[in-house]
Amino acid sequence: MTTRSLLILPGDGIGPEVMAEVRKVIDWLGAKRDLAFEVSEDLVGGCAYDKHGTPLHDDTMAKAQEVDAVLLGAVGGPKYDDLDFSVKPERGLLRLRKEMDLFANLRPAQCFDALADFSSLKRDVVSGLDIMIVRELTSGVYFGEPRGIFEEGNERVGINTQRYTESEIDRVARAAFDLAMKRGKKLCSMEKANVMESGILWREVVTRVGADYPEVELSHMYADAGAMQLTRWPKQFDVIVTDNLFGDLLSDLAAMLTGSLGMLPSASLGAPMENGRPKALYEPVHGSAPDIAGQGKANPIACILSFAMALRYSFDLGEEAARVEGAVEAVLAKGLRTADLLGEEGVSPVSTAEMGDAVIAELDASL
Ligand code: NAD
Ligand code: IPM
Ligand code: MN
Repeated sequence: MTTRSLLILPGDGIGPEVMAEVRKVIDWLGAKRDLAFEVSEDLVGGCAYDKHGTPLHDDTMAKAQEVDAVLLGAVGGPKYDDLDFSVKPERGLLRLRKEMDLFANLRPAQCFDALADFSSLKRDVVSGLDIMIVRELTSGVYFGEPRGIFEEGNERVGINTQRYTESEIDRVARAAFDLAMKRGKKLCSMEKANVMESGILWREVVTRVGADYPEVELSHMYADAGAMQLTRWPKQFDVIVTDNLFGDLLSDLAAMLTGSLGMLPSASLGAPMENGRPKALYEPVHGSAPDIAGQGKANPIACILSFAMALRYSFDLGEEAARVEGAVEAVLAKGLRTADLLGEEGVSPVSTAEMGDAVIAELDASL
């Protein structure tokens, strides 16, 4: 029998609320599709700090290294704002990404037809949109040395360093080209080669890797112009590859093309393990949303779609992934909306749990 092991880290704020809805989907697959998952659960972020004094216990880190896939809700919140930087909730997530070496962060932005009027942009600009941002996740200014706050003369200086090696650029570029080959065969690489040496190297290495993918149409754009083009005419893009910080910004921007940050899933993938599957962590792009936490208002779709990505990339269950995505689409087409997606006349919001139940009902209907 195939074993499928999952480590669930719900985290803080709305993390546990949206993860409860993913649990329903996991249970449904076990009951109705005979697909059992070995699920364990643990702490990450502020809740881990509250219990252990660290946002990620070594035992949790070790478990994450062993499972087929990690599912994470969200970390952080105002309660932890004054903690020392080294134990902030976000450090737990960054440690997971770094130690699992999850260098390719796939952030698809897809606009479901039923939501085309929820984007801050015109329907024409976003309807049918289906782009994939590949964000480098384990290097760049997030991790470069030197870093810190230092005394310099009679004042302090805050330092972070943008640093990329050729091999780091090479491997994320290959991941992006591979995806482009399976999609529309177009790749746009974004950096700031006009002002940053790391950008010059980035462009050079991506171009070199491109020689191995003659079928993919490669273009380059400065990241600031890329942000402008993403809002002007996002459908010009298929796959975008960019660094850690630009990717963070551009993917939040892309979220609004889909209607809500509560819609955007992500997969963070590393090199293949012995069993051929990539090391992987799946999480929604959004954070712990302290402003709505504990109120049953959170949209669970980003987290549910992140699990669908796990089905596709970690468990070779593309058909089941499509079934989950289809159920989400059907629920939205019927007009169900969590509070982040309101605006239509006469529509009142459903709760997080009601949205999850509606997805399950559509899964039942798909059989
Ligand atoms: P956020 O994504 O938590 O929230 C931004 C806005 O989007 C808020 O108004 C929120 O209510 C709304 N929103 C987000 N997800 C939603 C959902 N599923 N349904 C409905 N509305 C949703 O970003 P923030 O406020 O900048 O950050 C809050 C905390 O989360 C911070 O501590 C930050 O560091 C952390 N954070 C964590 C992650 C992560 O765990 N991957 C990602 C981003 C931010
Ligand atoms: C994200 C978040 C994280 C990041 C934080 C919480 C560390 O914003 O996943 O997009 O900056 O990468
Ligand atoms: Mn972010």
